[in-house]
Amino acid sequence: MSHAFGNIAQLVVGGRVGSGELEIIENAGLVVDAGLVVWVGPNSQLPPADRFTDLAGRTVIPGFVDSHAHLVFAGDRAAEFEARMSGVGYSAGGIKTTVAATRAASDDELRAGLKGRMRELHRSGITTFETKSGYGLNVFDEARSLRLAAEVTDETTFLGAHVVPAEFADRRDDYVELVTGDMLAAAAPQARWIDVFCDRGAFDADEADEILQAGVRVGLRPRIHANQLEAGAGIELAVKHDCASADHCTHLTDSDIELLAASNTVATLLPGAEFSTRAQYPDARRLFAAEAKVALATDCNPGSSFTTSMGFCLAVAVRDMRFTPGQALVAATAGGAAALRRTDVGGLRVGQRANFVVLDAPSFIHLMYRPGVDLVHSTVIDGTAVYERGK
Ligand code: NIG
Ligand code: FE
Repeated sequence: MSHAFGNIAQLVVGGRVGSGELEIIENAGLVVDAGLVVWVGPNSQLPPADRFTDLAGRTVIPGFVDSHAHLVFAGDRAAEFEARMSGVGYSAGGIKTTVAATRAASDDELRAGLKGRMRELHRSGITTFETKSGYGLNVFDEARSLRLAAEVTDETTFLGAHVVPAEFADRRDDYVELVTGDMLAAAAPQARWIDVFCDRGAFDADEADEILQAGVRVGLRPRIHANQLEAGAGIELAVKHDCASADHCTHLTDSDIELLAASNTVATLLPGAEFSTRAQYPDARRLFAAEAKVALATDCNPGSSFTTSMGFCLAVAVRDMRFTPGQALVAATAGGAAALRRTDVGGLRVGQRANFVVLDAPSFIHLMYRPGVDLVHSTVIDGTAVYERGK
């Protein structure tokens, strides 16, 4: 059944990754059939369809693609956030608190948390999301986390190499052996990606290299947490392995930026993490000047960035990371899709999936211009509303 949407004040059809170039139709219409976009154009030429929805001067943008989140967890780290806001620094060690709570939780408790967070993502306009394991850190709980993650998304990532858990504190090598051996074997059937936190207090470059290699050997695709806490070898490693994305990129040297620009690896910036750890924001202008590919994601997790709001991330990216509004919108849509190596999502060109967000606003710029205001009127996946305000 075809469904036409008319009277769209501004329709964002797509954008070029690594730029702020957007394809926009003012006074537009959109037709969806069998979950796909089948027509976009001026409202005056909207073809007849089985069903019509009048969007009454609202804006339509592609659904956000959140390429980085850690949604399978239990517990609460509000006290850690409070301490940080009183001057305590962030360290990778806090992850262990969530590991203990996650291991102690039942499947149903984890599932309920995951589903609740998924509803929040939809409410913020996110239509595709990635999620990682990484709070189990033993064979059973990593496999369990991925099994639960796979119930809600195809973009599942094995992050057994998040930190070395307490019981392996004096035996790091044994933990790397476990991650690349039995844990990987249990995780791989339910994961698409392999990730490693390559940073101070987590895994060094040699360990990360070995872990990514092991994942690739069994058919997982690589991505990496790199350069959040300090500049290191993470970007070199990302490019060497043709990682789909290098995430955080808080500290980048000029040569890191050159490497990224010459590669197929997307630099994924995570404004929520700098915000919630009170870290220095990276300057995205350096990446755009070099024509590197850039994505924005929520990094939703209980420690360093407990937000599911892409609108919030966009506003911070524009205000504090120096994205232009157009660059930020591209990064959170087509950029996120590129970071997951997807072409079916991230835009509303004919043939792409009918995943979109209707905004109570005359233009997408209001997403950043009106920070903290919920502008999402509805969120549509494959042509069907998954969220409608007030319903
Ligand atoms: O992406 N950087 C590593 N992992 C998470 C933080 C996890 C935590 O503190 O629980 C991140 O920010
Ligand atoms: Fe992360």
